[in-house]
Amino acid sequence: MMRKVAENVSWVGKIDWELKKFHGSEYSTHRGSSYNSYLVREEKTALIDTVWMPFAKEFVDNLEAEVGLANIDFVVQNHAEVDHSGALPELLRRRPDLPIYCTANAVKSLKGHYHQDWDFRVVKTGDSVDIGNGKKLVFVEAPMLHWPDSMFTYLAGGAILFSNDAFGQHLASERLFNDAVDQNELWEECVKYYANILTPFSSFVTKKIQEVVGMNLPLEIIAPSHGVIWRDNPLQIVTKYAEWAADYQENQVTIFYDSMWDGTRKLAEGMAQGIAEASPGTKIVAHNVAKTDKNDVITDVFRSKAVLAGSPTINKGILNAMAGILEEIEGLRFKNKKAAAFGCYGWSGEAPKLIAERLAKGGFEVVDEGLKTLWEPDAATIEAARAYGRAFAGKIGGAA
Ligand code: FEO
Repeated sequence: MMRKVAENVSWVGKIDWELKKFHGSEYSTHRGSSYNSYLVREEKTALIDTVWMPFAKEFVDNLEAEVGLANIDFVVQNHAEVDHSGALPELLRRRPDLPIYCTANAVKSLKGHYHQDWDFRVVKTGDSVDIGNGKKLVFVEAPMLHWPDSMFTYLAGGAILFSNDAFGQHLASERLFNDAVDQNELWEECVKYYANILTPFSSFVTKKIQEVVGMNLPLEIIAPSHGVIWRDNPLQIVTKYAEWAADYQENQVTIFYDSMWDGTRKLAEGMAQGIAEASPGTKIVAHNVAKTDKNDVITDVFRSKAVLAGSPTINKGILNAMAGILEEIEGLRFKNKKAAAFGCYGWSGEAPKLIAERLAKGGFEVVDEGLKTLWEPDAATIEAARAYGRAFAGKIGGAA
């Protein structure tokens, strides 16, 4: 259903309430998502982005019924990933002459996905298309936000930035705008999205924000391709991105671990107590990674100034849930965070050393050799874990 965003600008996307996993199973979407597509109707009519392939027919049928496919003059494809380009094959099957404005990298990507030679019009930063009535669409390349092909489109004369994935959130809502939804839910989804998707590209985020702010463009709305549209103080999400991109941390420690017979869990709990004793102002969060959603763990890692990561040793290695999350954390390349590893063992006890190596490779400053204990923790071992927690609080700047 078409919804009004601004004068002559409509939302024509798809709200996906059922979506619980995104990017395969890489990203949990507890609150669903949306694939936002926009129609700008001046003397010329532009369609900005489409929707994910499962909704292609429904999307194109709606456009036919509400707008008439014959009345669309061109498509702007800000990004080629399939959640935004998935309806192109259906749309182009029915309107094969439609020009597609996109970056050179998007042409490669769209051809790679769909193996079609559509009428691609390659654009670069500063290029524009006049759409009449004194308005034009101006393109701003945004490589690595979050793919090489990504770009923003700015509606000059309408003060709307169509930012694609940047500034988005996985949040299904019938309410289209940021001021119309639960603010806690909105910000939880925003920070999770940044932590899990954009963290490795923070230097690009900083530069792009400086570039766009430096253009001094009037800005009334930021319209991303997932979640709600920022119409109330749209710069608030830009300000947050600038903060998050600057090696963000709160006064928080996240302890994440897996445990076979609860020994490593008991160490985690002892360390949590020790940190709490030594540093009353520090928020402490503990997750068993085999039981907690991994994207929620990663969001807590993003918020933290330091982490403690633990696993018992199995077959001279790490339990598989820990190995999986360490792989992801290493790829996200967090900066300005301290860390140490721990684990209880019965035979050889390699896990803490292996974890520390992974954390160091991922950019964490490993502050010491961690805590490795033999057999089921007794009262003395748990006190040693508390003492370790107190000392760790000191090493990460956790004075009361
Ligand atoms: Fe929402 Fe990069 O796709």
